[in-house]
Amino acid sequence: MSFKKYALITGSNSGLGFGIATRLLENATPEIEDAPETLTIVLTCRSKQKAEDAISRLRALFPKRKLQLEYVLLDLSDMHNVEMAVRAISTRYKKLDYVYLNAGAWDLAGIDWVKAIFSTLLNPIQALTHPTFYRETSGRTTKDGMGFIFQSNVFGHYYLKKRLEELGVLQKATKLVLTSSLVAEPDSLNLKDIECVSGDKPYQSSKRILDILHFNEVEKGCCKYMQFLSHPGLCTTGMYETFIGPIMVFFAKLGFWFCRLLGSPWHTISPYIAAFSFIWLALYGTKEDESVKWGSGTTRLGKECLRRTPVDEILPSEKEKVSEYVNGLYKQWHEKLSQ
Ligand SMILES: NC(=O)c1ccc[n+]([C@@H]2O[C@H](COP(=O)([O-])OP(=O)(O)OC[C@H]3O[C@@H](n4cnc5c(N)ncnc54)[C@H](OP(=O)(O)O)[C@@H]3O)[C@@H](O)[C@H]2O)c1
Repeated sequence: MSFKKYALITGSNSGLGFGIATRLLENATPEIEDAPETLTIVLTCRSKQKAEDAISRLRALFPKRKLQLEYVLLDLSDMHNVEMAVRAISTRYKKLDYVYLNAGAWDLAGIDWVKAIFSTLLNPIQALTHPTFYRETSGRTTKDGMGFIFQSNVFGHYYLKKRLEELGVLQKATKLVLTSSLVAEPDSLNLKDIECVSGDKPYQSSKRILDILHFNEVEKGCCKYMQFLSHPGLCTTGMYETFIGPIMVFFAKLGFWFCRLLGSPWHTISPYIAAFSFIWLALYGTKEDESVKWGSGTTRLGKECLRRTPVDEILPSEKEKVSEYVNGLYKQWHEKLSQ
């Protein structure tokens, strides 16, 4: 009998994914020095360089250990690449114990500064928890012809998990965690434009779809494995760095600290704290926890905690339309990529 465990984390070279990897490794520290590692972490990144860099940073955090770190290249916005990753993973690993579908894209076109300043002054917690001042890029599509954010945040992962389930890599004991957000707002989703190609909130819409698909799958008992839904609260990660730059990240962090001191339960700020719910679910989550949207939270003094997150009502028609659409796409792409 093998005691070795395998964890796959998509998008693990930065932010939350790197925080999850760090915490999983902390948790799996061998009790005896020099004892062999029982956990292998499989990072997925978009380039070899990013993967090797992430592996060196993890090794530097645990210099005395002989960490088992491996990687697979994965770009969710390219379906041929996703299929290649499926084949690489299923060839190399017979089973995965923990799967974190964490990678996610955000494409910011700009900020409405007037709205940002006024809404923050008026109600900082509301403004910095459910921001309405970000202007997302609209109309971006991938070379596969799908909405870029939809494919990166929803469909690429959906295809990956379905294929890994089909190939037997996701098993009854596997615990898989989906990464949602507090901004999964119902009004961002247009059922006539599920990929949000012409809408102006593709990121929010993608997260709402994740929530809908998850609750539908849990309700119908579709998955052979255990599937959880969680979000990291609000933390400053690569997403912010890329779009607002280091100076604004500094001010965003100040704002987040302020919100936390005022009593916001969701301003986790550091990816390490943001990873808390994700680790908890993998280690202690049970079947009952599948029907809740979880989140990482903190107290005013920064003590991490697990929180339930309210979910706006999901209508049966929404569940039906969204799952029909995504399953239809899955069938099409499965057929295309198995030729
Ligand atoms: N930060 C927050 O406050 C917050 C709040 C709610 C939810 N989230 C969610 O948390 C998850 C992690 O985000 P983060 O905040 O940690 O941001 P991050 O530091 O930017 O990490 C995102 C990761 O996803 C990868 N990625 C992006 N697009 C991809 C694609 N098309 N294919 C494959 N990988 C891709 C990135 O790779 P590259 O390095 O190559 O770009 C990176 O490794 C996301 O799902 C995000 O929506 C974050």
